[in-house]
Amino acid sequence: GDGNKQETNGKRETSPVKGSAPPFASSVSSPSKKKRIYFDADGMDDGIRDSARDSNHYSTHDSTNSPHKARRKAHKKVDIEQRNRMLEIRKQLPIWTGREALIDAVHNNDIIVVLGETGSGKTTQLPQFLLESGIGSGRKIAVTQPRRVAAVSLAHRVSQETGTQLGSLVGYSVRFDDMSWKGTRLKYMTDGMLMRELLSDELLSQYGVIVIDEAHERTLRTDLIIGTLKSIMRRRHSAALPPLKVVVMSATLDADKFARFYNAPVLYVKGRQHPVRIFNAREDIQDYVDGALKTIFQIHQTQPLPGDILVFLPGQEEINTLGASISLIADGAPLKHDISILRLYASLSPAQQQKVFVNAPANTRKIILATNVAETSITIAGVRHVIDSGLARERKYYSSHGGIGVDTLFVKPISKSSAMQRAGRAGRESAGTCYRLYTERTFLSLPPTTPPEIERTNLNFAILQLKAVSEETFRNFEWLDEPSEEAMQQAHMNLFGLGAVNERGEITEVGKKLAGMPLDPGIARMLLAAQTRECVGTLLSLCALLAVDSPIYTATSASQEQEEQQHTRDRFASRHGDHISLLHIWDAYMDVVQSGSTGDVKEWCVANKLSERTLRRARDIRSQLSHQCLKMGMDVSVNAHTQDDETILQCVLEGMFHNVAIRQGDGTYRQIVNQGLVKIHPTSCLLQRKAPCIMYSELTLTTATYARTVSAIHPAWLRAVAFYNQRGSM
Ligand code: CDP
Ligand code: MG
Repeated sequence: GDGNKQETNGKRETSPVKGSAPPFASSVSSPSKKKRIYFDADGMDDGIRDSARDSNHYSTHDSTNSPHKARRKAHKKVDIEQRNRMLEIRKQLPIWTGREALIDAVHNNDIIVVLGETGSGKTTQLPQFLLESGIGSGRKIAVTQPRRVAAVSLAHRVSQETGTQLGSLVGYSVRFDDMSWKGTRLKYMTDGMLMRELLSDELLSQYGVIVIDEAHERTLRTDLIIGTLKSIMRRRHSAALPPLKVVVMSATLDADKFARFYNAPVLYVKGRQHPVRIFNAREDIQDYVDGALKTIFQIHQTQPLPGDILVFLPGQEEINTLGASISLIADGAPLKHDISILRLYASLSPAQQQKVFVNAPANTRKIILATNVAETSITIAGVRHVIDSGLARERKYYSSHGGIGVDTLFVKPISKSSAMQRAGRAGRESAGTCYRLYTERTFLSLPPTTPPEIERTNLNFAILQLKAVSEETFRNFEWLDEPSEEAMQQAHMNLFGLGAVNERGEITEVGKKLAGMPLDPGIARMLLAAQTRECVGTLLSLCALLAVDSPIYTATSASQEQEEQQHTRDRFASRHGDHISLLHIWDAYMDVVQSGSTGDVKEWCVANKLSERTLRRARDIRSQLSHQCLKMGMDVSVNAHTQDDETILQCVLEGMFHNVAIRQGDGTYRQIVNQGLVKIHPTSCLLQRKAPCIMYSELTLTTATYARTVSAIHPAWLRAVAFYNQRGSM
């Protein structure tokens, strides 16, 4: 019933479809006319050299010295049939007519900017063109992506297109998952991974070409790479290394910024956009999950097949809620055709991600529920209808009130440019429709583009990372958009608090260690603290758990499920709060893992309402982190709780000293750094505890600012931590 409606924890009740009239008014948008067009998709058969077939590049690629025997074997077994079949599809892509022009442009310029509509073949084809043309003097080609899902799925696709096994010629590298080896020539990777590689290879000497993809998204890490590459190219020249070629790719029209920054030419790829009819909601739909649900079934019951539906939602939680509601209705109601529900968001495993690309069986409509990863990074064939919630989950850093500030996750309206990209996904193969769950007036009030991440994140990571590469890299760094002096100072203060830089702002040994770990500096700091307090083993588990989503399933609409989840939370709850509770779950899980069979583990997870996938992923991350720590000379052998809960929490606090709030007389909590008010999230086991002082891993902003993953701490620990960290040593 409605009494259960909980806006507060980000979950919404959804109700079955009612026979109401569609809440939409219609308007037609025709494909936009581009001003300057370089290539054209028409007449594309002229003069294309079929070099993928001519060249024996793939079979002669030398891997005889590889220690990776399995990969070497696989590498030889080129699937020529598949490759040729896919070549026919590749040749239909708009970018194929521009093949020679693109290769020439990269030959003749150190940097080029390539602009093209989503789906024109930039990401999958251009790197292959360069590989086949021999550009880059035999060195690797890197293609950066803002999102791991995209990096993984694109590498999959391109390895199929080349007829080689994933991880051999074509591979990927994302945090906690490396599918490449030294012989990999084409490497799809997150922008963050390329940043990390700078730490051990300052001039990126193993690369001949860096392709910066999705540059329009302006993620912090993409900006960091763009700013660093300029001086790397210069310095490679003086170090007598072969030149580094750079290709910046963007799906939107704002390429001038990159072209000016690098003084580089812009090349245009024309896409094949069919008209998309846009329906705006007559009034803004507050319960967008419910709105999407109704719209899905309206489309499904009235529109013919084929024609898959792509729904844009802010995040995983909404995707799962909507998915559950769709199944519920589909089970109970007679439908015209079958449906197949697919999900696409960041934390899916590679195998699950690949499912969205499989064509639906006959008489079945695919309904793809996705985050904004499907906006420009990933194109799914067969989509004819788009439903746009108009929202995206975004991380924002509040540095107001002169305090240190914390990262906050919240759901936010998208930009006009994003809304147009989303609508465009419906017109890839034929005319399509886009249903916006907001009014035209709301659309018109949206900001033209999403501001770059640099303007809404803290600079802790950026500054630490640049300084860890080298002081020279930091000094030479040029920002695409200069951050404010205030933000820079604040980052220095934070880093000083973590002991990562000294009074003069120079990086310390601690700072170098923090930068070397594939973790947020604060989380990495916890591990260092654990080393001194001899509980690295336990903190490794905790850090791995903090790096994944909560292993406790989030409730969907059914109140019975909510109750069951509460049982799970109660069963593992600690009086200290959620961090220790997470460790309780971990210990119980590992007991089953070590004593039981795979089936037992599955059964145990189901019985306890825990996500086995999430826990398995945490285990994976833990082993990689552990490996990293071992390499840094830390003793990771300490296994279980060698320390009491309070000591463990003190380690956590050292990395999160700025995420602390004190309980007020009226029961609310006030942050110590910027005096903002926070509430304890309803899923926290500290909700009823009235702890005088809390620390938390994350803030979410919904109807109020909620602290998630909360633990009670002793106020006296705070002074010790401040003193301890500011000595800047271990
Ligand atoms: O980068 P851009 O948006 O220009 O295009 P792309 O990602 O290279 O995609 C080119 C084509 O490959 C699209 O039509 C996709 O449908 C197809 N593709 C696919 O079928 N499966 C994938 N995993 C990736 C791409
Ligand atoms: Mg792309």
